[in-house]
Amino acid sequence: MTTNIRPISPDDQKAIVELHARSFGPGRFARTAYRIRERGGSEAKCSRAMFDGDRLIASVRLSEISIGGKSGAVLLGPIVVTPELKDNGRGSALMQAAIDAARSDGHRAIILVGNEPFYGLFGFKPIPPGDIVMPGPVDPTRLLALELVDGAMTGYKGLISSKA
Ligand SMILES: CC(C)(COP(=O)(O)OP(=O)(O)OC[C@H]1O[C@@H](n2cnc3c(N)ncnc32)[C@H](O)[C@@H]1OP(=O)(O)O)[C@@H](O)C(=O)NCCC(=O)NCCS
Repeated sequence: MTTNIRPISPDDQKAIVELHARSFGPGRFARTAYRIRERGGSEAKCSRAMFDGDRLIASVRLSEISIGGKSGAVLLGPIVVTPELKDNGRGSALMQAAIDAARSDGHRAIILVGNEPFYGLFGFKPIPPGDIVMPGPVDPTRLLALELVDGAMTGYKGLISSKA
């Protein structure tokens, strides 16, 4: 694989928007991460994109959030690999790069809404029902967290909101 992974820059936004549109269609605007970002959530600097030469082929976004008023966590999503390049290890490589970056940036936990069979590969675990409340309806079995600092999740309870 002659790819490389870099932090997302403002110049990458157009390609990311196109990739999201191709993968999710109009339904993307109903996704939780979009709703949080719409309310002013800022892109965390651990967000990453994968390139094949100059072509952006995958991206993963993370946004700084607060949970019950407490900062230190980031919300991951979406992660997208160009459809024809899926199932070849790229999504995993990008996830691992973003997790490593979030840890070295000092974040304490990563939260997401997603599929446990995939995200469980990276250590994400279900959040006990009721501990964390998303702004909008979410299947509670899909609310997952990865502690970057041991025990971090015990300190987080309440409503997730964007941290501008
Ligand atoms: C989910 C996604 C990012 C994974 O990227 P990828 O490059 O295809 O994944 P990889 O090749 O690194 O797969 C790694 C492992 O995850 C598994 N996997 C991939 N997608 C999966 C999914 N949706 N559910 C469960 N397992 C999945 C693979 O089978 C593989 O398992 P293995 O190591 O046992 O073979 C990619 O399929 C994608 O862009 N999907 C569409 C957008 C999407 O649904 N994003 C997630 C929601 S935000």
